[in-house]
Amino acid sequence: MSSSTTAPWRTPLESTLTTHSTTSFTLSTATLDPKTNLPVPRSRTCEFRGFFPTPPLHPSALQALSAQNVPLNPAIYESDLLSFTTDARMEKTAQLRESGGAVEAVFWVKGAMVQWRVRGCAFAIGGGGEEEGAARERIMGRLRRMGEATGEDKDWDWERVVTAYFANMSPVMRGSFTAPPPGQPRSQVPADPNYKMGQPLEDLNDPVARANFRVVVILPDEVERLDLSDYANVTRRRWTLGSESGEWVEEELWP
Ligand SMILES: Cc1cc2nc3c(=O)[nH]c(=O)nc-3n(C[C@H](O)[C@H](O)[C@H](O)COP(=O)(O)O)c2cc1C
Repeated sequence: MSSSTTAPWRTPLESTLTTHSTTSFTLSTATLDPKTNLPVPRSRTCEFRGFFPTPPLHPSALQALSAQNVPLNPAIYESDLLSFTTDARMEKTAQLRESGGAVEAVFWVKGAMVQWRVRGCAFAIGGGGEEEGAARERIMGRLRRMGEATGEDKDWDWERVVTAYFANMSPVMRGSFTAPPPGQPRSQVPADPNYKMGQPLEDLNDPVARANFRVVVILPDEVERLDLSDYANVTRRRWTLGSESGEWVEEELWP
């Protein structure tokens, strides 16, 4: 478990995103080109789902969890780990596995004229098996016990967190995890009758959807803020996580 306090970049990042209603970022991963076997980048837009393991839950999510008898975890842990959700069948999931989780997340907040870059590694949870065990261990190493924590570690459950993230999706979004495999040619109609398009899904434990649903947690080790709001005084600040100290070191850079 991480012993440090809230990362120094977290409050300014959150504040920029909230003030300017920015919810998405560009996520880059690394992979090897299957033809040349050379490293190539891959980027796409993803929706930021808050800091793990405490996504801001919509009233409809709380209602769905309560109606389906899924209790919430006790409020024990917090972290500076960014989270998003994805479908295990998408390419990024395999790229994360193959690259050891190498990622860079970039937020461009136009209203503030500020760019945030978050580098680190990312792990997917929700799939079970050996991979899940390794991911949980890495993530747990970066969680903090909350100062005002009420509740016990034994009452905190990983599967429940994943279900809470799933509940936070609209029924139509939940249903997308039962759609035919993303990225495959539409000419290939799946024989599996479990795959449907555009169907709302209420069941938080639907086995087809949950087999594909993943929460991805980014463990940052370098964060950088570029502020272009005043062209006469552009600032660039970097925070680096000391691998031994576990503390963030802040440095002003020439822009
Ligand atoms: C505004 C916006 C938000 C998106 N959010 C997500 C997301 O949170 N997770 C995700 O897997 N894909 C999201 N997508 C779709 C991805 O950009 C991408 O098309 C998809 O994940 C397939 O990427 P991959 O094949 O590289 O894995 C979003 C797209 C847009 C335009």
